[in-house]
Amino acid sequence: MSQELETTRLLLKEITEDHLPLFFELHSYPEVDRFNTMGIPSDLQTTRQILLPAMEDQLQEMRSKYCWAVFRKEDHAFIGELGFSVSSSKYRRGEVHYLLIPDHWGKGYATELVKRIIAFGFDHLHLHRVEAGVATENVASLRVLEKAGMTREGCHRQILPIRGHWVDNYHYAILESDPR
Ligand SMILES: CC(C)(COP(=O)(O)OP(=O)(O)OC[C@H]1O[C@@H](n2cnc3c(N)ncnc32)[C@H](O)[C@@H]1OP(=O)(O)O)[C@@H](O)C(=O)NCCC(=O)NCCS
Repeated sequence: MSQELETTRLLLKEITEDHLPLFFELHSYPEVDRFNTMGIPSDLQTTRQILLPAMEDQLQEMRSKYCWAVFRKEDHAFIGELGFSVSSSKYRRGEVHYLLIPDHWGKGYATELVKRIIAFGFDHLHLHRVEAGVATENVASLRVLEKAGMTREGCHRQILPIRGHWVDNYHYAILESDPR
């Protein structure tokens, strides 16, 4: 079943076919792709292939992959993408990712989204850990995770293949018992 969420300023709608052109545009900005392994999609069909598992997951009773299209409440502007992958019930882990349209950077939206997903993970899904990985040079994203109360737990060396180079990745997490 589809899961809508909201924050003070933002509305999160689970992705549908209608949203695909918005995601294609988002994934096509070089500055959005800079620290991502996905690469810029060649066409809308490539974007659809990437997002299909999250659309199909909405039909599952036990959810494992969420992807929300994020809109600003005030004017319904498309802000970006928020994703959350959830482990099996034994491990009770979730991993968050987020990509915003560059015009909307620097307004605290990513931090607002990550805080909401942490609350969703602990209060609604009863997870034990919420995690995120971030390229070590992605300073804005590191800051988002720290502002959201996550702890840097370690560094995976040369784990991300980005445009022909191996890039280091910091691993962050927050536990259900950590202060929020
Ligand atoms: C990373 C990203 C989501 C941040 O979104 P955002 O809405 O601008 O983030 P916020 O406004 O909540 O917070 C950004 C913080 O980083 C800081 N920041 C941004 N660029 C910075 C830089 N070059 N050096 C130091 N700090 C920087 C901001 O000042 C802010 O911190 P502050 O509130 O203490 O001033 C956005 O830049 C993005 O979509 N990037 C491309 C995709 C991406 O890299 N996603 C993350 C993958 S892990």
